[in-house]
Amino acid sequence: MPNAYISGTGFHVPEDVVSNDELSKRYGIDTSHEWIEKRTGIEARRFAPAGVGTSDLAVPAVEMALERAGLAKTDIGMIIFATLSPDHAFPGSGVYLQTKLGLTDDGVGHFVGCLDVRNQCSGFLYGLATAASMVQSGSVDNIVVVGAEVHSAALDLSTAGRDVASLFGDGAGVVIVSATDEDRGVRSWHLGADGRHADALSQKIWDISKRPFIPQNEDGVGQVDPAHMYARMAGRLVFKNAIERMIGALMKEFQKQSLTLDDVDLFFFHQANLRINQYVATQLGIPDNKLFHNIERYGNTTAATIPIMLAEAQGEGRLERGMKITTVAFGSGFTWGAAIIDW
Ligand code: UT7
Repeated sequence: MPNAYISGTGFHVPEDVVSNDELSKRYGIDTSHEWIEKRTGIEARRFAPAGVGTSDLAVPAVEMALERAGLAKTDIGMIIFATLSPDHAFPGSGVYLQTKLGLTDDGVGHFVGCLDVRNQCSGFLYGLATAASMVQSGSVDNIVVVGAEVHSAALDLSTAGRDVASLFGDGAGVVIVSATDEDRGVRSWHLGADGRHADALSQKIWDISKRPFIPQNEDGVGQVDPAHMYARMAGRLVFKNAIERMIGALMKEFQKQSLTLDDVDLFFFHQANLRINQYVATQLGIPDNKLFHNIERYGNTTAATIPIMLAEAQGEGRLERGMKITTVAFGSGFTWGAAIIDW
């Protein structure tokens, strides 16, 4: 049985940097840099321009990952695309990415499987676990695992929506999970969910149980209530559960692998709130220099967060062969996950 290792990483973020002050200046939101930075650690985020979809952001990220892996596009054996902000309700973003990469062009005809993952902030880890299992089964040699989001289009950029709007940003991150006979790669993973809190962080833009599923006015014109158009969050409940579940997921993985904190070189926590991560790190005794973070520059990029961090860390030379890394995420669903990887 082959091992499944990360052969390449890539990322792409839009050019438009929106600082905390810009949220007030540009959109008139009643907020301040001090409020956002103090509670979340966020200083800025990136917003994609109109006309750019989620799969568009993923294209340069995949190209970077392939180059770093020394692979060609036609080496891709499968695409797994994690996002909560897909290009369209359906089909998934994976098939759009496949076409935008040129894999369906005449003469190329590389019709690999494409799977979308709908697990929000932990979507990348659900995708990574799926990819690692597929590679370890010997069925596929190279799987592109994407996390990409265009949140900016679906944020309530007004004072009413400031609790959520100040947190999220756009971006794409990619890893390529490849087969190897070497003693390295994804060692174990843990996935969990608690559907009792499905409504605590949600965007109910339509309700498929209703007839019609998007409300219409008396003229039969579809209208989405702004309360349902944008994500809504019970922030404190999310905060509390994030801490409990992240610690629980990490402890499970450490027990399973008989590891201590000293065995791990770098931790990649999902970037929802720097204060959540600092609390988890303090509780577990993880020192600052082992905790990678980029929330100050990008905010919460949901499924893209962990692969962007991995790509940045690799670009900065902080990931070296032989290092042991741990990653953990928590988000809407509630869903969560963790993984231990020998780089
Ligand atoms: O990615 C998924 C996981 N997400 C998370 O992990 C997020 C978890 N939750 C959080 O990080 C925190 O709950 C927040 C940072 C989102 C909010 O912090 P909080 O201390 O829980 O604030 P709150 O929602 O209880 O709101 C306190 C006050 C309210 O004003 P009033 O009603 O007391 O007058 C809010 O309207 O702070 C206000 N507020 C803001 N004020 C200025 C909320 N957002 C803002 C803002 N700027 N951006």
